[in-house]
Amino acid sequence: MTLTANTAQLPPLGVHQREEVGQQLQATLVELIDLSLLGKQLHWTVVGPLFRPLHLQLDEMIDSWRELSDTVAERAVAIGFIPDGRSATIASDTPVHAVELGALEDRVVVRDLAHRLADVAERARARMDRLGELDAARQDVVIEVVRALEEQLWMIRAQCSNGRVR
Ligand SMILES: [Fe+2]
Repeated sequence: MTLTANTAQLPPLGVHQREEVGQQLQATLVELIDLSLLGKQLHWTVVGPLFRPLHLQLDEMIDSWRELSDTVAERAVAIGFIPDGRSATIASDTPVHAVELGALEDRVVVRDLAHRLADVAERARARMDRLGELDAARQDVVIEVVRALEEQLWMIRAQCSNGRVR
């Protein structure tokens, strides 16, 4: 059971609605935390002529993913859903592909990041649509997540020579 016991003073959502909204936020939380972890890995292991801009850009994105994950988790708690950001949960539940261990060339980092951001943004968009049917007050945070991810994806994609990721 992921809901807190006392629901008397919580926003007036039905039990099933509350649980589903919570699960949509939880799935988003897991992906944001995983992005922040793999982002640090890439921040450390990127090599090549684009090392410095990518190294710095990754830290900016990590800050954004961490801030968004905090907001998502707190929105879940506000409706009585206990978010799970534990490392074991992230490891077992994340749908995001792991990055390779080792030094990674800058163009590989750009390509890998673009693929992952596109996948995460697509799933977040589907949750945003679902939350629109369930709870507009929780949908807005996922809209914010989608906006941020799609902007980051554009900025990463723009670093590929023709703007397309192969
Ligand atoms: Fe650093």
